[in-house]
Amino acid sequence: MNKKILLTGGTGYIGSHAAVELSTRGYDVVLYDNLQNSSAAVVDQIELISNRKCEFIQGDIRDTALLSDTLSRLKINAVMHFAGLKAVAESIEEPLNYYSTNVLGTLSLLDAMLHAQVFNLVFSSSATVYGVPAYLPIDELHPTGPVNPYGRSKLHAERILSDLAVSSTNWSIISLRYFNPTGAHESGLLGERPTSRPNNLMPIISEVALNSRDRLQVFGDDYDTPDGTGVRDFIHVMDLAEGHRKALEYIGKEKGFEIFNLGTGAGYSVLEMVEAYKVASGQAIPVEIMTRRPGDVGACYADALKADTVLGWQAKRSLKDMCESSWRFYTNSSNRG
Ligand SMILES: NC(=O)c1ccc[n+]([C@@H]2O[C@H](COP(=O)([O-])OP(=O)(O)OC[C@H]3O[C@@H](n4cnc5c(N)ncnc54)[C@H](O)[C@@H]3O)[C@@H](O)[C@H]2O)c1
Repeated sequence: MNKKILLTGGTGYIGSHAAVELSTRGYDVVLYDNLQNSSAAVVDQIELISNRKCEFIQGDIRDTALLSDTLSRLKINAVMHFAGLKAVAESIEEPLNYYSTNVLGTLSLLDAMLHAQVFNLVFSSSATVYGVPAYLPIDELHPTGPVNPYGRSKLHAERILSDLAVSSTNWSIISLRYFNPTGAHESGLLGERPTSRPNNLMPIISEVALNSRDRLQVFGDDYDTPDGTGVRDFIHVMDLAEGHRKALEYIGKEKGFEIFNLGTGAGYSVLEMVEAYKVASGQAIPVEIMTRRPGDVGACYADALKADTVLGWQAKRSLKDMCESSWRFYTNSSNRG
């Protein structure tokens, strides 16, 4: 396959790290984003780290004409579709917004791809499609049953992709179900910098370590886990980025629709994460134990054997790597603001 890749949501957290991974491996990267949760300054950081130019187009994922024109004009070979909304609580308050961006947005992209005859796609899905774990670790055969509009929007999109792959043998589509992406690029130049309020654990811990938040609220310490706090499969964002490159290599050879979990296969508790961050940052991180949040589960972690066997991918980085890279990013003065 030729090597020109469009990354929707490419200036966002995961898209920008995937862009670095692809660009440093010799792919030509085109970023497409409406900047609603990221900044155009990220483009400079990607170019700085990878020492290669990348093109940026500002646009909405629902602008099918702009996407179609972009795909044809720039002779794109494959698309990675990161653009989307991802906050569970917000999805309960604004379901239409989530379905519009995540489902209609995906339909718009697929229409544009069909029009431009681009049939290779890697889709950002989520472990939230599984809902409450029936068993652990969660493999790809685990039943789906998302319990919020965000998870349902991802599952709807996956079903559309699966139907599309049946409709024509041209399509080669992979859906990657991420567990809990954390950390930052090793350089400290790129990391998670949402323009909206952070929802993920590590950016919130980092705010406490930086004294811009007085404590971390931990929701529940009475789960059936070693220390009672929730256990999640935290995966380093650069491991995730490498998983995308492996998926891209796979769709260059195979047709159809495949689903892969991307996780480490191990779980860390919220308090283990806090301890590791304390060590990495040398800062105090006060916590306040709260009651459980409705809808949260005690433990959730992946069986990532399929990605290992089929894609030849494994997560390599440790919890320490996740915390140290994150702290480097948040304390790098050029990243402030
Ligand atoms: N970060 C996680 O914990 C996580 C876990 C599982 C799945 N995912 C999925 O991975 C993808 C990327 O997540 P992320 O963490 O990088 O989030 P992010 O918010 O940092 O990145 C998403 C990007 O999409 C852009 N975007 C949003 N709506 C858009 C629209 N209508 N048109 C064009 N661009 C739009 C945003 O500006 C942002 O740059 C999302 O689809 C998300 O659902 C994320």
